[in-house]
Amino acid sequence: MKKVTVFVGSAHHKNTHEMVDIFVDHLKTLGDVDCEIITLSDYQLGICRGCRLCFEKGESFCPLRDDRDILFEKISASDGIILATPNYSFQLSGLMKVFLDRFGFVFHRPRYFGKVYTSIVSQGIGGGNEIVKYLDFFGTHLGFNVVSGSCLTALDPRTQKEQQKMERILAEQSQKFYAWLQKPAYPVPTLFKLMLFRMGRTSIKQMLDERSCDYRYYAAKGWFESQYYYPTRLNPFKKAAGFFFDQMASTVRNLLA
Ligand SMILES: Cc1cc2nc3c(=O)[nH]c(=O)nc-3n(C[C@H](O)[C@H](O)[C@H](O)COP(=O)(O)O)c2cc1C
Repeated sequence: MKKVTVFVGSAHHKNTHEMVDIFVDHLKTLGDVDCEIITLSDYQLGICRGCRLCFEKGESFCPLRDDRDILFEKISASDGIILATPNYSFQLSGLMKVFLDRFGFVFHRPRYFGKVYTSIVSQGIGGGNEIVKYLDFFGTHLGFNVVSGSCLTALDPRTQKEQQKMERILAEQSQKFYAWLQKPAYPVPTLFKLMLFRMGRTSIKQMLDERSCDYRYYAAKGWFESQYYYPTRLNPFKKAAGFFFDQMASTVRNLLA
């Protein structure tokens, strides 16, 4: 059975929760899926103080003593996660942003490979597509397999046609999400993702050393020698491209030194 956790950044049980319920109900019709819905406002989450200790010393040095690790453990235990937020003032809800800021160090030390991710944005008028783009970006850089998110307009009162449209979009999205849950968890990277990994790891190897938390993390994972973040079979073209990206990062580094 696949485990899916939804994190909702709306403090009341209205539109965003309703969309999540539709998504989850549809997902459950597709197969054996255990879903947990988490309302972020039910948890204690402090506002990131910007001390950078998570970057520099490690995430366990975060001075905030709150429910961050309970929520992180829920992600670790899940095969798939969904972030759902209302559009407030043309952005994520503050509640969701407070949560996402706590992942700053994961951009440096990605970890959610093999897990499926998507997002749901609920809005009244417009601007939500930019939020979806940001949430897709967020998921990609943390290592997830990203199913593009959706932005749904939920005006009150809603016509039957609007309701049907919303349900259709959510059903299609949950279908794609489910299909990804069934796929091999570690897909062959795209050329772009390969480039990001190879240039990033070569730069870290050359510019940092054992004193850096990021360096130690990469070394412990074997990422200074590996083809990609996880074992994968690159075709000859991608193998050559990977080598080229390593060389390119070295050349740039030498030019800047
Ligand atoms: C404070 C606030 C700001 C909002 N700002 C926007 C906005 O900028 N753009 C938009 O399309 N809808 C906006 N809305 C409407 C909500 O995004 C929309 O009603 C959403 O479905 C609410 O979800 P919820 O019921 O889970 O809170 C705003 C609503 C509130 C309460």
